[in-house]
Amino acid sequence: MIPFSDPSASYQSHKDEIDQAIRRVLDSGWYVLGHEVESFEQEFSDFHGHDFHSVGVANGTDAIALSLRALGLKEGDEVITASHTAVATVAGIEQAGYRPVFADIDPLTRCLCPQSLQSRISDRTKAIIPVHIFGQPCDMNSIMEIARSNDLWVVEDCSQAHAAEIEGKKVGSFGDLATFSCYPTKNLGALGDGGVVLCPDPEKAERLRQLRQYGWDNERESIHSGVNSRLDELQAAVLRVKLKHLDIDNNKRRQLADLYDERLRDLPLTLPHRSAKEIHAMHLYVIERENREGLMKHLRDNGIGASLHYHLPVHRHQAYSGGFHGADDLPNTEAFYQRNLTLPLFPELEKESIEKIANEVHAWFERT
Ligand SMILES: Cc1ncc(COP(=O)(O)O)c(C=O)c1O
Repeated sequence: MIPFSDPSASYQSHKDEIDQAIRRVLDSGWYVLGHEVESFEQEFSDFHGHDFHSVGVANGTDAIALSLRALGLKEGDEVITASHTAVATVAGIEQAGYRPVFADIDPLTRCLCPQSLQSRISDRTKAIIPVHIFGQPCDMNSIMEIARSNDLWVVEDCSQAHAAEIEGKKVGSFGDLATFSCYPTKNLGALGDGGVVLCPDPEKAERLRQLRQYGWDNERESIHSGVNSRLDELQAAVLRVKLKHLDIDNNKRRQLADLYDERLRDLPLTLPHRSAKEIHAMHLYVIERENREGLMKHLRDNGIGASLHYHLPVHRHQAYSGGFHGADDLPNTEAFYQRNLTLPLFPELEKESIEKIANEVHAWFERT
């Protein structure tokens, strides 16, 4: 089976450096929030090229919840996001005690549609979470304009878009805060759970450092009610290795995506949008096709791990089907979920595998 993602291939391709990093931590005798976490935070900030601060946390969901809390929102405040995202985005909003409101996506980019976003703003709205889904940057210029003219905070969910860019500027450097998951399948993936928040404001970064560890100040007095969401040293050491290779690994993803584009271009399929002004992180290669079930079955029957991202938009999951504001008016989201199909893509995927997958897609069209 060609999997749609392969974290063990990523480990194998950086094995020597990762093994050394792990050994270094084991020998150090210091396993949680130490030198490796501090170094990773500094390197992650530097990677974003400006005067940023980074705070390592336990996972990408906590990164969202803690970011919203660091902004000082009040219970019940509304946060607008897309329903076309990982459930985690919405779980993070709820975990922090805020109310998710759903806006629709732009069918071309599959990211938050600025017009729909504008239509969801009410007196209760306090923040927006644009999700750079599948590695595709959102229209951050329009979103920031809407946010600034309505006095709203912006937390970019960059969990699927590490190192993507818009006109030479990395995603994560547009909003007030940016959150990243480092789950093993992500473009910057640990060997377990991990997450990080990026922000330009040192006070918010300090607040996040307190919130991630029981709300403690330097004297270990809890000055806020916090949580335990610490990043451990082993994961930070692995992430330091992976960060060094992130640009090269993302380039490999884009080259493989180019191959898919070339081989599938002539078929009646919608391929991922690519813009010359942006650098797509190509976390997932998602195509669209009416009645995609037959094609998905054909690929799976032939050893190809075609899958769905996702099988449901968040508002259609049982737990979230209880009338969230905006959920009844998401035509582009609903349409996308009838058509989406994810093809395998990860930096170590062989070009021959792309050939095989493309041949099977062609074979299915020839048969039908
Ligand atoms: C868009 C998005 N946001 C947030 C998360 C949450 O990350 P984690 O699984 O590390 O909590 C993920 C990961 O699945 C994601 O894809």
